[in-house]
Amino acid sequence: MKIHWLIVAGVAVAAVFPTVLVVAMALSSNDNGPVVIAGFVGLVLSAGLSFYIARRVARPLRQFDTAAMSIARGKFGVQVEVGGETELGDLARTFNYMSAQIEAYDHETQRLYEDIEAGYLETMVALANSIDSKDSYTRGHSQRVAEMAVEIGKELKLTPRELKQLRYGGILHDIGKIGIVEAILLKKSTLDPDEMKVMRQHPTIGDSIIQPVSFLKEIRAAVRCHHEWWNGTGYPDGLKGEKIPFIARVVSVADTWDACTTTRPYSRALPEDQALAVMEKLRGTHLDPSILDAFLKVIEKRRTSAPESVKLAV
Ligand SMILES: [Fe+2]
Repeated sequence: MKIHWLIVAGVAVAAVFPTVLVVAMALSSNDNGPVVIAGFVGLVLSAGLSFYIARRVARPLRQFDTAAMSIARGKFGVQVEVGGETELGDLARTFNYMSAQIEAYDHETQRLYEDIEAGYLETMVALANSIDSKDSYTRGHSQRVAEMAVEIGKELKLTPRELKQLRYGGILHDIGKIGIVEAILLKKSTLDPDEMKVMRQHPTIGDSIIQPVSFLKEIRAAVRCHHEWWNGTGYPDGLKGEKIPFIARVVSVADTWDACTTTRPYSRALPEDQALAVMEKLRGTHLDPSILDAFLKVIEKRRTSAPESVKLAV
């Protein structure tokens, strides 16, 4: 039985008992009319009073119940509105203080978590930079891939959390190159088949490097799968189409664009129009067509928003 009805019943019994006593006494006397009326008025008043008291007690209790459920669901800091100097008022003030404290602890925990995450990321970025800086040709590559991946993500209306994952994925996609011997990594000519086999291990090496870092678990796909091809002929797993994780398909487009537009030991940077033609050739074979479309919109926006002097230089 709900407390509301317990209070109604309790107050009603307490008020009805004397009323019934008065009515019984009146019935035993001759002139009982006014007393009977007074008795009925008393009954009605006692019923009204019991409902009023029940509401006064049950309403704040319902507020506590709703607020406690909100806290249980992670909405910390929720407050209840119970005033006055009653015990319920004291309970409300204690409850509100507790809720505010939980919210403060939650913010502090969140801040510490973000500090740890930033610390991990800085370490990873330092590692990625150490790979890029080994070779003057790839300096800044990871950062540029991250920036382009995020721009594509914005074009695809991704959430801030997904954009953050794309940024991390772009920065870390080649982290596995740290495990490739420099004779192969820095070779100025085309790699022979055996060397290529070694070089193609960098996605799986990278995956195993970041695998123990729990907050990077959603980034692993970008590291492991950024050389998978849309038509299923990529590596390391030969995934095809949408079987390739989305984050990896975006990083792949950004990575390919950076490879086309920067000078490498074995190829010169292509002018933008030629690089775009190469990207178009890779549509549906190497690159996901829908992500390529988003990338083309990014390039178009960059062109239209570039200052006149930059446009002339291009
Ligand atoms: Fe790579």
